[in-house]
Amino acid sequence: MLSLVLWAAGASVAPAQEPDPAEGRELYIDSCASCHGAEGEGAEHGPSLVGVGAASVDFYLRTGRMPLANESQQAVKKEPAFDDAQIESLVAYVSSLGEGPPIPEVDTATAELSAGQELFRDNCSACHGAAGAGGAVGSNAFAPSLLETDPVQIAEATIVGPGQMPKFAFEEEALNDLVGYVTYLQDVPEPGGEDIGRVGPVAEGFVAWVAGMGALIAISMFVGRKRERSPAEPDQA
Ligand code: HEC
Ligand code: HEC
Repeated sequence: MLSLVLWAAGASVAPAQEPDPAEGRELYIDSCASCHGAEGEGAEHGPSLVGVGAASVDFYLRTGRMPLANESQQAVKKEPAFDDAQIESLVAYVSSLGEGPPIPEVDTATAELSAGQELFRDNCSACHGAAGAGGAVGSNAFAPSLLETDPVQIAEATIVGPGQMPKFAFEEEALNDLVGYVTYLQDVPEPGGEDIGRVGPVAEGFVAWVAGMGALIAISMFVGRKRERSPAEPDQA
């Protein structure tokens, strides 16, 4: 309340929740240093974090990938181990170790779905599937479903290129289009639904394209692990 008053009066006062690198360092020592080294320099069980940037730390913590439990297995999405304030403090500490990409600002309000669809088809669907439901990558990794991922983490992933995923360097507008399209996919009704006519202009082209890709998707389904949601069920294509 006080800070609000001061803020209203034009005083520059730090908000109460200002991320605290010192607190971040303490959390780091407790939960991360055993693998990433006392100063983030990297060690036997984890890579160097110097210069990975806020985007990477934020992505790995908000998707619950870190702290990793078992380094012989692919990091997977799970409940975050830290609350918002702790994540911000850890991000502040680790990103102070060296310069790297900041957390991207995402604004999908004016995203063009058709442009985003094209970007997704050309750059993402080979691994994540036409509907973003995920798929196998090689024999020992999988590209997870994107259907539960927050917009900022979608953008961060393209910058960071976690695990087996490549890094991408999209212009801001393209990134907004792409993220807008993925969040659109998250709202598409369950495959097999009759509702497809309701979901708007992109859907028709999308369905046509899914049909065209059916054979390819069938192959990747055959190779891949079983998934709960797939647009490539024969009854839809
Ligand atoms: C059991 C060991 C282990 C622990 C504990 C651990 N990490 Fe990691 N971390 C790894 C490994 C291995 C990788 C590389 C694998 C990957 O990227 O999925 C990694 C990758 C990362 C990356 C990506 C680096 C890049 O190149 O972009 C970040 C950021 C990260 N860890 C942060 C943390 C933070 C913060 C903590 C503590 C909250 C933590 N890690 C705890 C083993 C660990
Ligand atoms: C070569 C295959 C490949 C391509 C191409 C690819 N990804 Fe990925 N993606 C992966 C893999 C593998 C992971 C899991 C990384 C890990 O082990 O932590 C992943 C993880 C992600 C995640 C994290 C999802 C979550 O909630 O856990 C997002 C978001 C993502 N990718 C978005 C994209 C977008 C958007 C594109 C296109 C611009 C793309 N990916 C292209 C393989 C790929």
